[in-house]
Amino acid sequence: MNTNIIESTFIQITLKLLFVASLLVSSISCAQPDSDAGENKKTYAATVLITGANRGIGLELARQYSEAGWQVIGTARQPDRAMELANLNNARVVQLDVTDQDSVMRLVNELSGQSIDLLINNAGILPMMRSVANIDIDQFEYIVAVNSIGPVRVTQALLPNLRASQQKKIINITSNLGSITDNTGGGFYGYRESKAALNMFTRSLAAELRPEGFICIVIHPGWVQTDMGGANAPVPVQESATGIRSVVDSLAPEDSGKYWTFEGEQIPW
Ligand SMILES: NC(=O)c1ccc[n+]([C@@H]2O[C@H](COP(=O)([O-])OP(=O)(O)OC[C@H]3O[C@@H](n4cnc5c(N)ncnc54)[C@H](OP(=O)(O)O)[C@@H]3O)[C@@H](O)[C@H]2O)c1
Repeated sequence: MNTNIIESTFIQITLKLLFVASLLVSSISCAQPDSDAGENKKTYAATVLITGANRGIGLELARQYSEAGWQVIGTARQPDRAMELANLNNARVVQLDVTDQDSVMRLVNELSGQSIDLLINNAGILPMMRSVANIDIDQFEYIVAVNSIGPVRVTQALLPNLRASQQKKIINITSNLGSITDNTGGGFYGYRESKAALNMFTRSLAAELRPEGFICIVIHPGWVQTDMGGANAPVPVQESATGIRSVVDSLAPEDSGKYWTFEGEQIPW
């Protein structure tokens, strides 16, 4: 009798242990598909990298892409002073001076393995030099270093990141002042030449990278109300950035290598 009681108690305890163990196993095996399902539910957010994103057109582009749900990597020469950029949703601020190769290499290391769908080379300067007699050669060289060589450095350095994406778009912010055809007024020494060089770089880039599915363009943002454009400029920065985004969104492969305005028109080279 006692043996029977001991046996039945033993069987009951064993069954309870098996029941608890089966609950544990099922809860663990349920957790795996759930978390997998969670991963699968994540929607893909495209990534844009914008140079000179701490103010002006670059900051407004960053704001609009952030609001549209993009992951934004905005560069600034002084990240600790780029609070508006840092406070945007899904925005990451990275230090970059486009004239400094060490700074570009630090950016490359920081973004290693990160795919970039859209690169906007926006950083630029416009020191005014109105007559040939007054050209400051050092300043001329620096304008070219920022406006022409800067985008070359950044594009070259981030090519692996761009190649890893599906969209593969490179947008170089130029100016209508870079048009040789339209230059009847002269002036703007250094700036005109720097943007004409950027235009030519973009044409070559478009030709070389077309077989890989890249779209590379230059776009004139209008005469825009920023520190560079001044308060008398006719185009509010929001309108310029909205126009640029709209052109970028609608680009087809055959649009690569073209000279656009933010209103979607073509400028003669
Ligand atoms: N505004 C216009 O009317 C107009 C017209 C035609 C074309 N664009 C072009 O549009 C682009 C943006 O112009 P914007 O009006 O927004 O100018 P902006 O308000 O003067 O801003 C220029 C941006 O470029 C950055 N930058 C300057 N030098 C740099 C360097 N060495 N390395 C990295 N970043 C640097 C600035 O950073 P810091 O704050 O550190 O100086 C700033 O973020 C430029 O390429 C410009 O040529 C403008």
